[in-house]
Amino acid sequence: MADDPFSLAEHAADAIRTRFGDVQARVAVVLGSGWGPAADVLGDTVNECPFDELPGFPASTVPGHGGALRHARAGTVDLLIFRGRVHLYEGHGPATVVHGVRAAILAGAKVVILTNACGSLNASFPAGTPVLLRDHINLTGQTPMAGPPPPKPYAIRFVDVTDAYSPRLRALAQSFDPTLGEGVYAQFLGPQYETPAEIHMARVIGADLVGMSTAIETIAARHLGAEVLAISLVTNLAAGLQGKPLDHAEVVAQGQAAGERVGRLLRKVIEVA
Ligand code: HPA
Repeated sequence: MADDPFSLAEHAADAIRTRFGDVQARVAVVLGSGWGPAADVLGDTVNECPFDELPGFPASTVPGHGGALRHARAGTVDLLIFRGRVHLYEGHGPATVVHGVRAAILAGAKVVILTNACGSLNASFPAGTPVLLRDHINLTGQTPMAGPPPPKPYAIRFVDVTDAYSPRLRALAQSFDPTLGEGVYAQFLGPQYETPAEIHMARVIGADLVGMSTAIETIAARHLGAEVLAISLVTNLAAGLQGKPLDHAEVVAQGQAAGERVGRLLRKVIEVA
């Protein structure tokens, strides 16, 4: 069995292709907290496989996260939809967190679309607003590139993350919805929400959005050469800005209210991406 994360991802890629009839899915989508309802509008379901039947996928422990990989079709484009993701705060290492993204790319995905729920520091992005990521700040102190160097034939670990979030895909999304704004996303480790002082720090260093995912997956996707589009759904104003405590159930509910609408936009992107 695989003893490094890259061979484990290769095993998973083989299993995905086998399970889904040798499909070459061009696009992979990771659905974040509350994005479940978007799954059905992204494409027409062809097949679905629980994560626990694929090598290297741990069970998710977060309410609001599904736990299966779906093969769907949007127009002529085959896509893989990760219904649920795993997070660093669940106690997984970064290699486990990015395993699905790596497997999808090794199975043929050229475009990775990452979605998440986030808190907003920016008054122009109130709750319910979808925002494209323009850049990120990784505050987790962790990275999927740490550890032994990637084996051959993979690129070296010193990944360039300039333009990590594809300008081409952002322009494409904005061509379908010109009101879509862009922001800088700070990934915290979580799972506790931030303190007001941490939110102040995030603002000072240039963040518009805060969350607990995505940056780590983007780094892994860029290392393997995929284009990344990431879209956050603002579910709340960040700690100290909304005048009441943060509540996970509310975060999930906000995501569900807007997820389907944003899903329809993403489908248009997927069809031509
Ligand atoms: N902080 C971190 N992660 C989040 C938030 C938040 O305010 N809202 C949704 N995910």
